[in-house]
Amino acid sequence: MRLATPSSLTLTQRLYQSLRDWVQQGQLKPGSALPSSRQLARELGLGRNTVLGAVDRLTAEGFLESRPGAGVFVAEWGAEVVAGASPVPKRAAVSPPLSARGQRILDVSSLLGDRHSAFVPGVPALDRFPRERWQRLLRRHQQQAPLEWHDYQHRGGVPALREALCDYLRLSRSVRCRPDQILVTQGAQQGFELIARLLADTGEAVWMEEPGYGGAHACFLSAGLDIVPVPVDDEGMAIATLPSSVATPRLIYVTPSHQYPSGVTMSLKRRTALIEAAQRRGAWIIEDDYDSEFRYASAPIASLQGLVDDAPVIYVGTFSKVMYPGLRLGYLVLPDPLVEPFKRANARLHREGQYVAQAALATFITEGHFARHVSRMRELYRLRQAALRHALAPAVANGLVLSAGTAGMHLVAELESPALEAELVSRAEQAGVLLSPLSRYFLRAPARPGLVLGYAGATDIEIAEAGRWLSDTWCTLSHRDGA
Ligand SMILES: Cc1ncc(COP(=O)(O)O)c(C=O)c1O
Repeated sequence: MRLATPSSLTLTQRLYQSLRDWVQQGQLKPGSALPSSRQLARELGLGRNTVLGAVDRLTAEGFLESRPGAGVFVAEWGAEVVAGASPVPKRAAVSPPLSARGQRILDVSSLLGDRHSAFVPGVPALDRFPRERWQRLLRRHQQQAPLEWHDYQHRGGVPALREALCDYLRLSRSVRCRPDQILVTQGAQQGFELIARLLADTGEAVWMEEPGYGGAHACFLSAGLDIVPVPVDDEGMAIATLPSSVATPRLIYVTPSHQYPSGVTMSLKRRTALIEAAQRRGAWIIEDDYDSEFRYASAPIASLQGLVDDAPVIYVGTFSKVMYPGLRLGYLVLPDPLVEPFKRANARLHREGQYVAQAALATFITEGHFARHVSRMRELYRLRQAALRHALAPAVANGLVLSAGTAGMHLVAELESPALEAELVSRAEQAGVLLSPLSRYFLRAPARPGLVLGYAGATDIEIAEAGRWLSDTWCTLSHRDGA
């Protein structure tokens, strides 16, 4: 027998590791007796205390068994233990491994592909983020961090950020709010989770735009809610199309400024009707305002939340698009009766944190860097959208329909048939182009076939190359199909 483990370990550690390996690999059979500690020490040329130290540890961990008067034995199930894991017998593979709810969440969660290719929706231009300035701000606030930032807190976020946000939202989004109504979250997703769990019970209905945002689908499913898909037309979510027998919702999720993914803006008539319907039915509206800063040709559309006094609206914002997704910062603007319950529940369920990043973000906003960055990105995305339209021009000239509008971070291409959608996605995979089928954004069949084409995070070259590939392939397939 030889000790195989690295000599950087102590002799006891090396013997422990070797004995454990021998047990797990079956060189020491379950139930067999271990030589006495004296004999082992002699055979291995080690001190007896070294041997006792290793044997005691393996006995405590359950790999060996000490039987008084008889000696030390290899435990019956020791060989079953996976290397590096705790000494628990291996379980037979369980199928299916997820709860029914877990499986449904997975079903609506698309594969995470290569995030850095053309056409990935929702990714901002990460390489254009002013990283050095941001890191300087982070360092500054890290150095000045008060002791309370090391503690558990439940104030809803760093006050300076809530104040800066409030000024920004009032001015640029016409949101009605005070700083104490803001709860900083780890992104919009956490905001949806809180809303779903605190305001709706299992089996209650949430009305959702169809097509709609997969992140919200997953979140409502995880809260056990019944999602009622509501069709979207060119005025936004059309609740008037719902049958009178439809389940009364507890929640209504909308993206009124820039419907995700179709890109339409909800008309004023629909906004008023939606607020009125929510009030009448005792429902809360979730306004997901994820990318309204990127409206290239005009000022951002005013929020639904600010349309009337006391609208039953929870406004959800995120810094994932205007800063970067890994920051994990977003926020809720809560109606007064929900402020305290949400802050307390959030402190219990998710805990607060990231105070340094929050404080740095407050300074980033108040010193004007945020507005400058957003304005630069708005111009960049305008150019990138134009580049994508240019690359797809040959297909458009042959009948490909692209979504209108000069806003956001993606375009939608309408396709003639689900078969064409599937064929394009599969050919794209082989060509190394990542295409998101529009059908993925629908909960109900039949879906409107199409493609969601992100451009914000792609370089000019990537847009030109992937755009040319798509244009050529669409022309070939569409021609072949006789469209
Ligand atoms: C419609 C929509 N809402 C919200 C978000 C932002 O989510 P988060 O703040 O959790 O990153 C996204 C990001 O992809 C989105 O597409």
